[in-house]
Amino acid sequence: MNQNIPLSVPNLKGNELTYVSNAVQTEWVSTGGPYVNEFEKVIAEYAHVPGAVSCQNGTSGIHTALLLAGVTAADEVLVPTLTFIAAVNPVRYIGAEPVFLDCDDTLCMDADKLKSFCTTQCSMQAGRLIDNASGRHVKALVVVHVFGNMANLEKILEIAQTFNLKVIEDATEAIGTYYLAGPYIGHHAGTLGFMGIYSFNGNKIITTGGGGMIVSSDVELLRHAKHLTTQAKSDEVNFLHDEVGFNYRMTNLQAALGLAQMEQLEAFITKKQENYQYYKECLADIPNLRFLQFRSDVRSNHWFYSIYLEDGFPVSRDQVVAEFSKHKIQTRPIWGLIHEQIPYKGFRAFQIEKAIDYQRHIVNVPCSTNLEKQDIDRVIACLKAMAG
Ligand SMILES: Cc1ncc(COP(=O)(O)O)c(C=O)c1O
Repeated sequence: MNQNIPLSVPNLKGNELTYVSNAVQTEWVSTGGPYVNEFEKVIAEYAHVPGAVSCQNGTSGIHTALLLAGVTAADEVLVPTLTFIAAVNPVRYIGAEPVFLDCDDTLCMDADKLKSFCTTQCSMQAGRLIDNASGRHVKALVVVHVFGNMANLEKILEIAQTFNLKVIEDATEAIGTYYLAGPYIGHHAGTLGFMGIYSFNGNKIITTGGGGMIVSSDVELLRHAKHLTTQAKSDEVNFLHDEVGFNYRMTNLQAALGLAQMEQLEAFITKKQENYQYYKECLADIPNLRFLQFRSDVRSNHWFYSIYLEDGFPVSRDQVVAEFSKHKIQTRPIWGLIHEQIPYKGFRAFQIEKAIDYQRHIVNVPCSTNLEKQDIDRVIACLKAMAG
């Protein structure tokens, strides 16, 4: 009897149980324990930044970063439409308005269209980018490093500088992705913009169950991030608070998991790369589909694998997912476009083209770090049968 092959599940075979047991035995289970500080230190060292601030999940990290960028209900924020909705929801938590942009062939934000939006739809007034249609200040953008690929930061950061935009890097899917060439060689996803965010949700390359981390090269910003995520207490003894803060800090239990996972991150990336290569070889002779690539000038963490079904593929995208399911293989179509979803229907979307095409054609296939070659062989056999 064939086992289920899940899409993306945790791999907890290292020191997870030891560290979590230690947290329980020492009774440091909440936000105060030593693992939290240690986990922050390990992430900061890994990503080559002066510090990191833990949070409850990637979503709360993005919320915090937007607040620190000074985004208010009066502002606009440029966001991608082809991504997970949590990249955009925090814009609405603040009451600001999103403007949706298209993707390029890496599935990340299209830098040329970003520039085109800024130059044709907006004007600079007293150092602020103003959307001509709404009169709102376009204050920031959220760029997502989709599936562990690096967005075109070379261009995006330059455009952001020209138009005075704060860049929030949603690197929730991209811990371990860094430049191998070019002006940012050696720099990790998440560390080049105003602030970056990693997620340790259960489906990510490493997990703390739920959790996140905010990184930045600006020490003062990190100090402020920690203040905001820990209830903005200005006087520990008398419980005085100087801002509206949040209960966003990670717990010691989560950080215990995170430390054990970090010990394995590089091995997980190697496994992801090997499995990606194996898929690629096996898929090469199946007609009417493409295996989406990661940038060659970047060391990608290869988090999620995407198959693009060409129009000539004999089975529709939804039937492909259903057929896999019959064979106990979990796959999924890429996310629904955010600008078409109920909470975002009234908001502006600028020249969305590629995202529509990719949304219609992409299926994500199993990619867990537990995945073995024989599992991939089953996925391939199933696809070959569908391809005819
Ligand atoms: C692109 C993107 N943004 C944001 C998030 C939110 O992260 P979390 O689930 O840790 O809140 C996720 C993942 O879940 C994501 O994939």
